[in-house]
Amino acid sequence: MQTVRQIDDLRQALDAFRSEGARLAFVPTMGALHDGHMALVEAAKRAGNRVIVSIFVNPIQFGPNEDLAKYPRREQADSRLLANAGVDLLWMPTPEIMYPEGFATSVRVSGVSEPLDGAHRPGHFDGVATVVSKLFHQVQPHVALFGEKDWQQLQVIRRMVADLDMPIEIQGVPTQREDDGLALSSRNAYLMPEDRARAVALPRALGAAAKTIGEGGDRAAALAQAQDSLTAAGFEVDYVALVDAESLAAPIDGRPMRLLAAARIGGTRLIDNIPVL
Ligand code: PAF
Repeated sequence: MQTVRQIDDLRQALDAFRSEGARLAFVPTMGALHDGHMALVEAAKRAGNRVIVSIFVNPIQFGPNEDLAKYPRREQADSRLLANAGVDLLWMPTPEIMYPEGFATSVRVSGVSEPLDGAHRPGHFDGVATVVSKLFHQVQPHVALFGEKDWQQLQVIRRMVADLDMPIEIQGVPTQREDDGLALSSRNAYLMPEDRARAVALPRALGAAAKTIGEGGDRAAALAQAQDSLTAAGFEVDYVALVDAESLAAPIDGRPMRLLAAARIGGTRLIDNIPVL
C-alpha cells in the first residue's frame, strides 16, 4: 500500500491507476478504524479494482464543545489494518492541505441537513459536505462508500452528489454491530465498562419501536416508550425520531421510513438507526 500526504503525490498515484483503466473505489474516514470501516473497505474491493482510503480528522465538522481534541488517532495501527486488507492507496492530507490559510468555501445541503443531528450539532453537516466535496475533487473516484450507521450523513452526501452532478456512485454499507447489537463506532472506545454494558439499550429501544410501528402500532407511543427505556438505562436522549428514509422529513405512508436516535451515556454521544419494515 502506498501512503501519500501531498496533493502532487496523490495525483501521480491516481493517474497511474487511471492509466490502467481502473475503477476507483474510495472510502473516506477519520481513522480509529474498526470492523465497520473494514466492511466499507471490503465493499470497496467488490465495487472497484483500486481502493483508496483517506484518513483525515476534519476539524470543521466538530462543534466548539465536541470531542475534536480527544478524537482517537491511531495512524500506525490504521495503516497496518488497511495494508493487510489490500488497500492500494492511503491518502492522509494534513490540515494545511485541506484548509490552507484563506480557505473560504463551504458546501451546505439544506433540507436533509437540518433536522435531527443537524439541529443538535449546528454546522456539523456543512463541515461534512465541505470536506467530502473536497475529498471527492481530490480523488475523483468512480464509487464512494459510506456506512449506514451515519444515516443522515449518507443522505446528505447523496443529495450533494445529485445536486452538483458529481459523477460518483454512492454506496451505503449496512451497519456492523457487536454481538449484543451495539453499532460499531470509533466513539465506543470512550465508553466506561458500565456504560458500555448499558449502551445496548440503544439498539434494543430502536428494535422494539421499529417492531411496534412496523406492525401498525401507535407511532407516538412507540417513540415515547423508546425514549423512556433509554432514560431508564441512563441515557440523556437528544432525539428518537421516525422519518422519511431519504429526505429525513416527516414520514409519508408508502415510502421507506427510518427510525433514528441520538443519546448520550457517560458523556459519550451515540447514534443509531434502523429501517421500519
Ligand atoms: O463518517 C466519517 O468518518 C466522516 O464524517 C467523513 C465522511 C470521513 C467526513 O469527515
